[in-house]
Amino acid sequence: MSEIEAITLPTARPNPFDPPDGLAELRASAPITRLAYPDGHLGWLVTSHALVREVLADRRFSARSELRHVPIESTSPGRPSPPGMFIGMDPPEQTRYRHLLTGEFTVRRMRLLAERIEEITEHRLDLMERQGPPADLVEAFAAPVPAVVICELLGVPGEERADFMAEAAALGRPDATQEQKISTFLSMQARMRDLVVAKRAEPTDDMLSGLTRSDLTDEELANIGFMLLGAGLDTTANMLALGTFALLRHPGQLAILREEPGRVDQVVEELLRYLTIIPFLVRTALEDVELGGELVRASETVTISTPAANRDPDRFPDPDALDLRRDTSGHVGFGHGVHQCLGQQLARVEMRAGYPALFRRFPSLRLAVEPEQVPLRTDMLIYGVHSLPVTWDGQG
Ligand code: HEM
Repeated sequence: MSEIEAITLPTARPNPFDPPDGLAELRASAPITRLAYPDGHLGWLVTSHALVREVLADRRFSARSELRHVPIESTSPGRPSPPGMFIGMDPPEQTRYRHLLTGEFTVRRMRLLAERIEEITEHRLDLMERQGPPADLVEAFAAPVPAVVICELLGVPGEERADFMAEAAALGRPDATQEQKISTFLSMQARMRDLVVAKRAEPTDDMLSGLTRSDLTDEELANIGFMLLGAGLDTTANMLALGTFALLRHPGQLAILREEPGRVDQVVEELLRYLTIIPFLVRTALEDVELGGELVRASETVTISTPAANRDPDRFPDPDALDLRRDTSGHVGFGHGVHQCLGQQLARVEMRAGYPALFRRFPSLRLAVEPEQVPLRTDMLIYGVHSLPVTWDGQG
């Protein structure tokens, strides 16, 4: 037995909106602590806001996927990121790709998209209203809005969207076997590559077409498209659904959203802080690093608890309260440092449109089941709800 005392990553959530049980105690008593990984690796866990930001800003900690150990049972061992998938790369490789992409996430495109996103949002609400109560908010609203948005952004044609979505959903499941994941991955990659070839032949106004004008290969472009699908779907969908659940359970706060529409930007930031749907990030030390009074040795993996950091009382007073009027600056819901979420402006536009439109359309919206019956995604790499049964009074 190892002489070093190590814990395993807490994952149980007695309260659907709070970080897993035990993280608050760790943050108070041992904000950096030894963590035992399921593959036998002995690494670290950091839980305080200060240490989380420190690791994410320190280039001696690498995001390279082949170096990392994963703190939960996982069927995918670390392997090098395929060309283009820069979320698992370090600068300067990551920088080159990221710059090409930021050139495509332009203010102009986001402005045009904002108008489209409002239309897409209203259209989904029309369908939901027409169908009548009750509804699963995930299926009727939270999942389709980001799906249509990302498909329009990339330029996935209407008839191919359902297949893309089904495969993207299959990839997000941690219970899929390695063989299943590889076969879905290869199929999506082939689909993306066909799309890239089509865009090269007939460029339109979408992001993939724009990127074909760079010096990226078809393989790189296909992987980038694939990464954007993976990063932009379940994240925004779960923020929309879990955020709605949280608002319904905090009527005093929901009143603020209804009565102070000018505050919507702040509402979105506080929901991002309070819910922090990415349960953890990982980095691996490239050399020995002193961190919070401990020595992290080269090749040790550090698990970064962004949910715990966003509830740190040293940074956010009364952190466990959902307070739509609070100052949320410095929250790490989109990460921090060179990998900070590339799609954050897009996600914000979707949420700023989504929550107010939903509660405007259905002023009497409420849960259709007891809150304890809402199935939580504690088993998924992105937290949220599997479904959210809701109902409303007939006239909206
Ligand atoms: C509310 C929704 C979202 C949340 C909470 C979220 C969260 C995050 C976080 C925490 C990271 C950092 C990962 C790390 O440091 O290892 C990240 C990276 C990233 N996100 Fe998001 N994300 C959201 C929506 C989106 C959308 C809509 C897109 C694109 C369409 C997107 C694209 C990306 C990409 C490409 C990266 C990698 C950036 C890099 O490595 O340089 N995300 N996201």
